[in-house]
Amino acid sequence: MLTRSLGSTGPRVSALGLGCMGMSALYGDADRGESIATVHAALDAGVTLLDTGDFYGMGHNELLIREALSTAPAGLRDQAVISVKFGALRGPDGSWGGMDGRPAAVKNFAAYSLQRLGVDHIDVYRIARVDPGVPIEETVGAIAELVQAGYVRHIGLSEAGADTVRRAAATAPIADLQIEYSLISRGIEERILPATRELGVGITAYGVLSRGLISGHFTADRRLAADDFRAHSPRFQGDNLRHNLGLVEALRRIAADKGVTVAQIAIAWVLARGEDIVPLVGARTRERLSEALGALDVKLEESDLAAIERAVPPGAAAGDRYAEEQMTMLDSER
Ligand SMILES: NC(=O)c1ccc[n+]([C@@H]2O[C@H](COP(=O)([O-])OP(=O)(O)OC[C@H]3O[C@@H](n4cnc5c(N)ncnc54)[C@H](OP(=O)(O)O)[C@@H]3O)[C@@H](O)[C@H]2O)c1
Repeated sequence: MLTRSLGSTGPRVSALGLGCMGMSALYGDADRGESIATVHAALDAGVTLLDTGDFYGMGHNELLIREALSTAPAGLRDQAVISVKFGALRGPDGSWGGMDGRPAAVKNFAAYSLQRLGVDHIDVYRIARVDPGVPIEETVGAIAELVQAGYVRHIGLSEAGADTVRRAAATAPIADLQIEYSLISRGIEERILPATRELGVGITAYGVLSRGLISGHFTADRRLAADDFRAHSPRFQGDNLRHNLGLVEALRRIAADKGVTVAQIAIAWVLARGEDIVPLVGARTRERLSEALGALDVKLEESDLAAIERAVPPGAAAGDRYAEEQMTMLDSER
Protein backbone atom coordinates (compact mmCIF):
# COMPACT_ATOMS: atom_id res chain seq x y z
CA MET A 1 0.00 0.00 0.00
CA LEU A 2 1.29 3.45 -0.91
CA THR A 3 1.45 5.83 2.02
CA ARG A 4 1.28 9.59 2.40
CA SER A 5 1.77 11.96 5.33
CA LEU A 6 -1.07 14.04 6.71
CA GLY A 7 0.75 17.33 6.55
CA SER A 8 4.18 17.98 8.02
CA THR A 9 3.11 17.09 11.58
CA GLY A 10 0.49 14.37 11.07
CA PRO A 11 0.73 10.60 10.85
CA ARG A 12 1.74 8.62 7.78
CA VAL A 13 -1.34 6.83 6.46
CA SER A 14 -2.43 4.78 3.46
CA ALA A 15 -2.70 6.89 0.30
CA LEU A 16 -6.44 6.09 0.25
CA GLY A 17 -8.54 6.32 3.39
CA LEU A 18 -11.88 4.64 4.04
CA GLY A 19 -14.72 7.03 4.82
CA CYS A 20 -17.29 5.14 6.89
CA MET A 21 -20.17 7.65 6.88
CA GLY A 22 -22.33 5.84 4.33
CA MET A 23 -22.27 2.71 6.50
CA SER A 24 -24.48 4.53 9.03
CA ALA A 25 -26.15 7.49 7.41
CA LEU A 26 -27.00 9.74 4.50
CA TYR A 27 -26.87 7.31 1.55
CA GLY A 28 -29.84 5.07 2.37
CA ASP A 29 -29.73 1.63 3.98
CA ALA A 30 -26.40 -0.12 4.49
CA ASP A 31 -25.82 -3.77 5.37
CA ARG A 32 -24.09 -4.03 8.76
CA GLY A 33 -22.34 -7.33 8.05
CA GLU A 34 -21.09 -6.11 4.68
CA SER A 35 -19.97 -2.80 6.22
CA ILE A 36 -17.85 -4.64 8.79
CA ALA A 37 -16.49 -6.98 6.12
CA THR A 38 -15.56 -3.88 4.08
CA VAL A 39 -13.61 -2.38 6.98
CA HIS A 40 -11.81 -5.73 7.45
CA ALA A 41 -11.03 -5.96 3.73
CA ALA A 42 -9.70 -2.40 3.76
CA LEU A 43 -7.40 -3.09 6.71
CA ASP A 44 -6.30 -6.32 5.07
CA ALA A 45 -5.39 -4.42 1.90
CA GLY A 46 -3.26 -2.00 3.93
CA VAL A 47 -5.73 0.87 4.36
CA THR A 48 -4.91 2.48 7.68
CA LEU A 49 -7.00 5.67 7.71
CA LEU A 50 -10.62 5.26 8.84
CA ASP A 51 -12.78 8.37 8.90
CA THR A 52 -15.91 8.80 10.97
CA GLY A 53 -18.02 11.41 12.76
CA ASP A 54 -19.78 11.10 16.12
CA PHE A 55 -22.97 12.36 14.46
CA TYR A 56 -22.97 9.74 11.64
CA GLY A 57 -26.07 7.91 12.82
CA MET A 58 -25.72 9.56 16.26
CA GLY A 59 -22.93 7.25 17.46
CA HIS A 60 -23.86 4.35 15.19
CA ASN A 61 -20.78 4.76 13.00
CA GLU A 62 -18.35 4.84 15.90
CA LEU A 63 -19.92 1.71 17.41
CA LEU A 64 -19.72 0.02 14.01
CA ILE A 65 -16.02 0.86 13.74
CA ARG A 66 -15.48 -0.45 17.27
CA GLU A 67 -17.11 -3.75 16.32
CA ALA A 68 -15.12 -3.97 13.09
CA LEU A 69 -11.84 -3.30 14.90
CA SER A 70 -12.58 -5.64 17.78
CA THR A 71 -13.28 -8.49 15.36
CA ALA A 72 -10.25 -7.79 13.14
CA PRO A 73 -6.95 -9.63 13.65
CA ALA A 74 -4.84 -7.76 16.24
CA GLY A 75 -2.13 -6.78 13.75
CA LEU A 76 -4.67 -5.13 11.48
CA ARG A 77 -6.56 -3.48 14.32
CA ASP A 78 -3.42 -1.83 15.61
CA GLN A 79 -2.59 -0.21 12.27
CA ALA A 80 -5.85 1.78 12.19
CA VAL A 81 -5.59 5.56 12.34
CA ILE A 82 -9.01 6.85 13.36
CA SER A 83 -10.12 10.32 12.31
CA VAL A 84 -13.21 11.61 14.12
CA LYS A 85 -15.37 14.65 13.44
CA PHE A 86 -17.51 16.21 16.16
CA GLY A 87 -19.57 19.30 16.81
CA ALA A 88 -22.79 18.68 14.87
CA LEU A 89 -25.86 18.75 17.09
CA ARG A 90 -28.61 16.27 16.27
CA GLY A 91 -32.13 15.60 17.49
CA PRO A 92 -33.63 12.14 18.11
CA ASP A 93 -35.50 12.47 14.82
CA GLY A 94 -32.20 13.01 12.99
CA SER A 95 -32.70 16.76 12.70
CA TRP A 96 -29.69 19.10 12.65
CA GLY A 97 -29.30 21.76 15.34
CA GLY A 98 -26.16 23.64 14.34
CA MET A 99 -22.61 23.32 15.63
CA ASP A 100 -21.01 23.49 19.07
CA GLY A 101 -17.29 24.28 19.15
CA ARG A 102 -17.09 25.60 22.71
CA PRO A 103 -14.14 24.16 24.65
CA ALA A 104 -16.36 22.42 27.22
CA ALA A 105 -18.39 20.87 24.40
CA VAL A 106 -15.22 19.72 22.60
CA LYS A 107 -14.11 17.79 25.69
CA ASN A 108 -17.60 16.39 26.23
CA PHE A 109 -17.82 15.15 22.61
CA ALA A 110 -14.36 13.56 22.93
CA ALA A 111 -15.23 11.75 26.16
CA TYR A 112 -18.24 10.09 24.51
CA SER A 113 -16.32 9.22 21.33
CA LEU A 114 -13.53 7.54 23.29
CA GLN A 115 -16.14 5.41 25.06
CA ARG A 116 -18.04 4.48 21.91
CA LEU A 117 -14.90 3.67 19.94
CA GLY A 118 -13.44 1.74 22.90
CA VAL A 119 -10.02 3.40 22.50
CA ASP A 120 -7.77 5.38 24.83
CA HIS A 121 -6.99 8.03 22.21
CA ILE A 122 -8.32 9.45 18.95
CA ASP A 123 -5.70 9.79 16.21
CA VAL A 124 -7.07 12.88 14.44
CA TYR A 125 -9.85 15.01 15.93
CA ARG A 126 -11.65 17.84 14.16
CA ILE A 127 -14.80 19.92 14.30
CA ALA A 128 -17.01 19.04 11.30
CA ARG A 129 -17.92 22.66 10.54
CA VAL A 130 -16.36 25.78 11.99
CA ASP A 131 -18.72 27.06 14.71
CA PRO A 132 -19.40 30.70 13.70
CA GLY A 133 -20.11 31.57 17.34
CA VAL A 134 -16.77 30.38 18.73
CA PRO A 135 -13.35 31.65 17.64
CA ILE A 136 -11.43 28.81 16.00
CA GLU A 137 -8.57 29.47 18.42
CA GLU A 138 -10.83 28.34 21.29
CA THR A 139 -12.03 25.17 19.56
CA VAL A 140 -8.53 24.20 18.40
CA GLY A 141 -7.10 25.23 21.78
CA ALA A 142 -9.44 22.77 23.50
CA ILE A 143 -8.30 19.95 21.19
CA ALA A 144 -4.70 20.96 21.89
CA GLU A 145 -5.41 20.44 25.59
CA LEU A 146 -6.75 16.96 24.75
CA VAL A 147 -3.49 16.32 22.86
CA GLN A 148 -1.52 17.42 25.93
CA ALA A 149 -3.54 15.06 28.11
CA GLY A 150 -2.98 12.14 25.69
CA TYR A 151 -6.59 11.69 24.56
CA VAL A 152 -5.95 12.95 21.01
CA ARG A 153 -2.84 12.61 18.85
CA HIS A 154 -3.38 15.17 16.07
CA ILE A 155 -5.66 18.11 15.28
CA GLY A 156 -7.53 18.41 12.00
CA LEU A 157 -9.98 20.83 10.41
CA SER A 158 -12.99 20.33 8.17
CA GLU A 159 -14.39 22.64 5.48
CA ALA A 160 -12.42 25.58 6.88
CA GLY A 161 -11.43 28.47 4.62
CA ALA A 162 -7.86 29.73 4.13
CA ASP A 163 -8.06 32.44 6.82
CA THR A 164 -9.41 30.00 9.40
CA VAL A 165 -6.71 27.46 8.52
CA ARG A 166 -4.09 30.16 9.13
CA ARG A 167 -5.58 31.12 12.50
CA ALA A 168 -5.85 27.48 13.56
CA ALA A 169 -2.27 26.73 12.50
CA ALA A 170 -1.07 29.72 14.52
CA THR A 171 -2.77 28.18 17.58
CA ALA A 172 -1.49 24.59 17.37
CA PRO A 173 -0.01 22.17 14.79
CA ILE A 174 -2.70 21.15 12.30
CA ALA A 175 -2.26 17.79 10.57
CA ASP A 176 -4.87 18.07 7.84
CA LEU A 177 -7.88 19.83 6.45
CA GLN A 178 -10.72 17.54 5.41
CA ILE A 179 -12.56 19.09 2.51
CA GLU A 180 -14.51 18.19 -0.61
CA TYR A 181 -12.30 17.88 -3.68
CA SER A 182 -13.05 16.12 -6.93
CA LEU A 183 -13.08 16.66 -10.65
CA ILE A 184 -16.33 18.54 -10.23
CA SER A 185 -15.59 20.28 -6.89
CA ARG A 186 -12.40 22.25 -7.39
CA GLY A 187 -13.10 25.23 -5.17
CA ILE A 188 -10.06 24.60 -2.94
CA GLU A 189 -7.56 25.24 -5.72
CA GLU A 190 -7.68 29.02 -5.69
CA ARG A 191 -7.00 30.02 -2.06
CA ILE A 192 -7.24 27.04 0.27
CA LEU A 193 -4.71 24.68 -1.30
CA PRO A 194 -1.99 27.35 -1.59
CA ALA A 195 -2.53 28.15 2.12
CA THR A 196 -2.43 24.53 3.32
CA ARG A 197 0.71 23.94 1.23
CA GLU A 198 2.41 27.00 2.65
CA LEU A 199 1.52 25.90 6.20
CA GLY A 200 2.37 22.20 5.82
CA VAL A 201 -1.24 21.15 6.40
CA GLY A 202 -2.33 18.02 4.52
CA ILE A 203 -5.64 17.47 2.74
CA THR A 204 -7.98 14.55 3.23
CA ALA A 205 -10.29 14.87 0.26
CA TYR A 206 -13.87 13.69 0.56
CA GLY A 207 -16.56 13.39 -2.08
CA VAL A 208 -13.96 12.36 -4.66
CA LEU A 209 -16.81 10.58 -6.45
CA SER A 210 -19.14 13.47 -5.66
CA ARG A 211 -21.16 11.09 -3.48
CA GLY A 212 -21.42 8.52 -6.24
CA LEU A 213 -22.47 10.99 -8.96
CA ILE A 214 -19.23 10.59 -10.91
CA SER A 215 -18.65 6.94 -9.96
CA GLY A 216 -20.02 5.63 -13.24
CA HIS A 217 -22.63 3.62 -11.32
CA PHE A 218 -25.22 6.33 -10.64
CA THR A 219 -28.20 6.39 -13.01
CA ALA A 220 -30.90 9.00 -13.53
CA ASP A 221 -33.66 6.54 -12.61
CA ARG A 222 -32.20 5.68 -9.19
CA ARG A 223 -34.81 6.06 -6.43
CA LEU A 224 -33.52 7.85 -3.33
CA ALA A 225 -35.04 7.74 0.16
CA ALA A 226 -36.20 11.10 1.56
CA ASP A 227 -33.34 11.12 4.08
CA ASP A 228 -30.69 10.35 1.44
CA PHE A 229 -28.36 13.37 1.12
CA ARG A 230 -28.60 13.12 -2.65
CA ALA A 231 -32.38 13.54 -2.64
CA HIS A 232 -31.73 17.20 -1.69
CA SER A 233 -28.35 17.83 -3.32
CA PRO A 234 -28.63 20.32 -6.19
CA ARG A 235 -26.33 18.25 -8.39
CA PHE A 236 -28.68 15.28 -8.30
CA GLN A 237 -31.82 17.16 -9.41
CA GLY A 238 -33.53 17.17 -12.82
CA ASP A 239 -31.60 19.00 -15.55
CA ASN A 240 -28.53 19.31 -13.31
CA LEU A 241 -28.39 15.53 -12.93
CA ARG A 242 -28.80 14.98 -16.67
CA HIS A 243 -26.01 17.45 -17.40
CA ASN A 244 -23.69 15.95 -14.77
CA LEU A 245 -24.27 12.41 -15.96
CA GLY A 246 -23.28 13.66 -19.42
CA LEU A 247 -19.87 14.56 -17.95
CA VAL A 248 -19.64 11.02 -16.60
CA GLU A 249 -20.20 9.62 -20.10
CA ALA A 250 -17.29 11.71 -21.36
CA LEU A 251 -15.15 10.26 -18.55
CA ARG A 252 -16.37 6.77 -19.38
CA ARG A 253 -14.82 7.00 -22.85
CA ILE A 254 -11.45 7.97 -21.33
CA ALA A 255 -11.71 5.17 -18.75
CA ALA A 256 -12.57 2.63 -21.45
CA ASP A 257 -9.51 3.65 -23.50
CA LYS A 258 -7.33 2.99 -20.45
CA GLY A 259 -9.12 -0.23 -19.51
CA VAL A 260 -10.21 1.10 -16.12
CA THR A 261 -13.49 2.27 -14.59
CA VAL A 262 -14.91 5.78 -14.26
CA ALA A 263 -14.58 5.67 -10.45
CA GLN A 264 -10.92 4.70 -10.79
CA ILE A 265 -10.27 7.64 -13.13
CA ALA A 266 -11.98 10.05 -10.72
CA ILE A 267 -10.02 8.77 -7.69
CA ALA A 268 -6.72 8.57 -9.60
CA TRP A 269 -7.19 12.20 -10.71
CA VAL A 270 -7.42 13.35 -7.07
CA LEU A 271 -4.41 11.19 -6.13
CA ALA A 272 -2.45 12.85 -8.95
CA ARG A 273 -3.15 16.37 -7.66
CA GLY A 274 -0.41 16.16 -5.03
CA GLU A 275 1.40 14.02 -2.49
CA ASP A 276 -0.22 16.11 0.25
CA ILE A 277 -3.69 14.83 -0.66
CA VAL A 278 -5.24 11.63 0.72
CA PRO A 279 -8.59 10.79 -0.88
CA LEU A 280 -11.24 9.23 1.36
CA VAL A 281 -13.43 6.77 -0.49
CA GLY A 282 -16.94 6.10 0.76
CA ALA A 283 -17.03 2.39 -0.12
CA ARG A 284 -19.43 0.34 1.98
CA THR A 285 -19.18 -2.95 0.14
CA ARG A 286 -16.11 -5.05 -0.60
CA GLU A 287 -16.88 -4.79 -4.30
CA ARG A 288 -16.82 -0.98 -4.30
CA LEU A 289 -13.73 -0.98 -2.09
CA SER A 290 -11.89 -3.26 -4.46
CA GLU A 291 -12.75 -0.96 -7.37
CA ALA A 292 -11.58 2.10 -5.41
CA LEU A 293 -8.29 0.48 -4.42
CA GLY A 294 -7.69 -0.29 -8.10
CA ALA A 295 -7.26 3.47 -8.59
CA LEU A 296 -3.88 3.20 -6.85
CA ASP A 297 -2.61 1.28 -9.88
CA VAL A 298 -3.91 3.75 -12.46
CA LYS A 299 -1.10 5.83 -13.86
CA LEU A 300 -2.38 9.01 -15.44
CA GLU A 301 0.01 10.40 -18.08
CA GLU A 302 0.06 14.08 -19.03
CA SER A 303 -2.07 13.22 -22.06
CA ASP A 304 -4.63 11.45 -19.86
CA LEU A 305 -4.80 14.42 -17.49
CA ALA A 306 -5.30 16.76 -20.43
CA ALA A 307 -8.08 14.56 -21.84
CA ILE A 308 -9.77 14.45 -18.42
CA GLU A 309 -9.58 18.25 -18.12
CA ARG A 310 -11.11 18.62 -21.58
CA ALA A 311 -13.93 16.23 -20.69
CA VAL A 312 -14.59 17.86 -17.30
CA PRO A 313 -13.15 21.37 -17.18
CA PRO A 314 -13.19 23.32 -13.89
CA GLY A 315 -16.71 24.52 -13.14
CA ALA A 316 -18.30 21.97 -15.47
CA ALA A 317 -20.80 20.64 -12.93
CA ALA A 318 -24.35 21.94 -12.79
CA GLY A 319 -25.54 22.74 -9.26
CA ASP A 320 -23.80 23.56 -6.00
CA ARG A 321 -22.18 20.81 -3.95
CA TYR A 322 -24.60 21.39 -1.05
CA ALA A 323 -28.15 22.69 -0.75
CA GLU A 324 -28.44 26.42 -0.04
CA GLU A 325 -28.81 26.22 3.76
CA GLN A 326 -25.88 23.82 4.10
CA MET A 327 -23.73 26.07 1.90
CA THR A 328 -24.13 28.86 4.45
CA MET A 329 -22.45 26.61 7.07
CA LEU A 330 -19.28 26.24 4.99
CA ASP A 331 -16.48 28.48 6.19
CA SER A 332 -14.61 27.28 3.09
CA GLU A 333 -17.14 28.99 0.80
CA ARG A 334 -16.85 32.44 2.37
N1 LIG B 1 -15.76 16.62 6.35
C1 LIG B 1 -16.92 16.57 5.76
O1 LIG B 1 -17.67 17.56 5.73
C2 LIG B 1 -17.37 15.31 5.08
C3 LIG B 1 -18.53 15.31 4.32
C4 LIG B 1 -18.90 14.12 3.69
C5 LIG B 1 -18.13 12.99 3.83
N2 LIG B 1 -17.01 13.01 4.60
C6 LIG B 1 -16.19 11.79 4.79
O2 LIG B 1 -15.67 11.39 3.54
C7 LIG B 1 -16.04 10.05 3.26
C8 LIG B 1 -16.25 9.89 1.78
O3 LIG B 1 -17.31 10.76 1.36
P1 LIG B 1 -18.46 10.30 0.42
O4 LIG B 1 -18.97 9.00 0.91
O5 LIG B 1 -19.42 11.39 0.22
O6 LIG B 1 -17.65 10.15 -0.90
P2 LIG B 1 -17.70 9.45 -2.26
O7 LIG B 1 -16.66 8.40 -2.20
O8 LIG B 1 -17.64 10.55 -3.23
O9 LIG B 1 -19.13 8.80 -2.44
C9 LIG B 1 -19.54 7.57 -1.92
C10 LIG B 1 -20.67 7.09 -2.78
O10 LIG B 1 -20.12 6.68 -4.02
C11 LIG B 1 -20.65 5.45 -4.40
N3 LIG B 1 -19.63 4.62 -5.09
C12 LIG B 1 -19.75 4.09 -6.32
N4 LIG B 1 -18.64 3.42 -6.65
C13 LIG B 1 -17.80 3.52 -5.62
C14 LIG B 1 -16.51 3.01 -5.37
N5 LIG B 1 -15.85 2.26 -6.25
N6 LIG B 1 -15.92 3.29 -4.21
C15 LIG B 1 -16.56 4.04 -3.29
N7 LIG B 1 -17.81 4.54 -3.46
C16 LIG B 1 -18.43 4.28 -4.63
C17 LIG B 1 -21.09 4.77 -3.14
O11 LIG B 1 -22.05 3.96 -3.63
P3 LIG B 1 -23.02 2.86 -3.05
O12 LIG B 1 -24.34 3.55 -3.06
O13 LIG B 1 -22.92 1.73 -4.00
O14 LIG B 1 -22.54 2.50 -1.67
C18 LIG B 1 -21.45 5.93 -2.23
O15 LIG B 1 -22.82 6.24 -2.44
C19 LIG B 1 -17.28 9.81 4.12
O16 LIG B 1 -17.48 8.44 4.38
C20 LIG B 1 -16.95 10.61 5.34
O17 LIG B 1 -16.12 9.83 6.19
C21 LIG B 1 -16.61 14.16 5.20
